[in-house]
Amino acid sequence: MLNSYLFASSRLGFRNWTSKDVDHLHLMCTDKEVMEFFPDIWSLNQTDQFVKRMQQSFVDNGYCYFAVDILKSKKFIGFIGLSLQTFEAEFTPCIDIGWRLKKSAWDNGFATEGAKACLNFAFKKLNLKSVVAIAPALNQKSQQVMKKIGMTEQATFLHPAIEDDNPLKKCVLYEIFN
Ligand SMILES: CC(C)(COP(=O)(O)OP(=O)(O)OC[C@H]1O[C@@H](n2cnc3c(N)ncnc32)[C@H](O)[C@@H]1OP(=O)(O)O)[C@@H](O)C(=O)NCCC(=O)NCCS
Repeated sequence: MLNSYLFASSRLGFRNWTSKDVDHLHLMCTDKEVMEFFPDIWSLNQTDQFVKRMQQSFVDNGYCYFAVDILKSKKFIGFIGLSLQTFEAEFTPCIDIGWRLKKSAWDNGFATEGAKACLNFAFKKLNLKSVVAIAPALNQKSQQVMKKIGMTEQATFLHPAIEDDNPLKKCVLYEIFN
């Protein structure tokens, strides 16, 4: 079973994206609860562009926000992984760890389990020196995952890609070192 995955945790398999994922991802990214801490839900075109960017990131860098399946059922539940961040900030360019899961998968410890596996991949396979994580200050749940995987808060900053009057603009930066 592991053969079809780049790596796995006890319950999750991590893989590159295929065009078959676009519709499932789009369904997740039109769920207003899943997208509560993003400026908007995603159109089908935005979702397709995201999948293409992730595939390209995998070719260029050997990592991306990986598509995640439950090993037992092979069901897609969202993404957890690594991404190069180049937006204008004191701490960029850097590699962040990020996660977004279908609501039906929440509160089972999947984000924490998957993020630990991705950090292991980042430090053991990619030999990265550090990994950051970014979230709107309002997103306490995401920060809880960061803390649970051993990351510590480094700074708060105003995200340059978010409008000035948007409450999501104030973000936190967490980091963990190899
Ligand atoms: C954030 C997300 C990936 C977490 O996934 P998950 O698999 O449910 O996370 P886990 O079960 O591993 O851990 C969640 C932790 O947050 C805690 N939590 C839940 N709601 C919380 C809240 N409102 N405030 C603080 N902590 C909260 C849980 O109790 C759990 O911690 P615990 O194990 O110490 O009790 C998921 O909710 C999601 O996809 N959200 C939408 C997308 C998103 O916000 N992505 C991050 C963008 S920065």
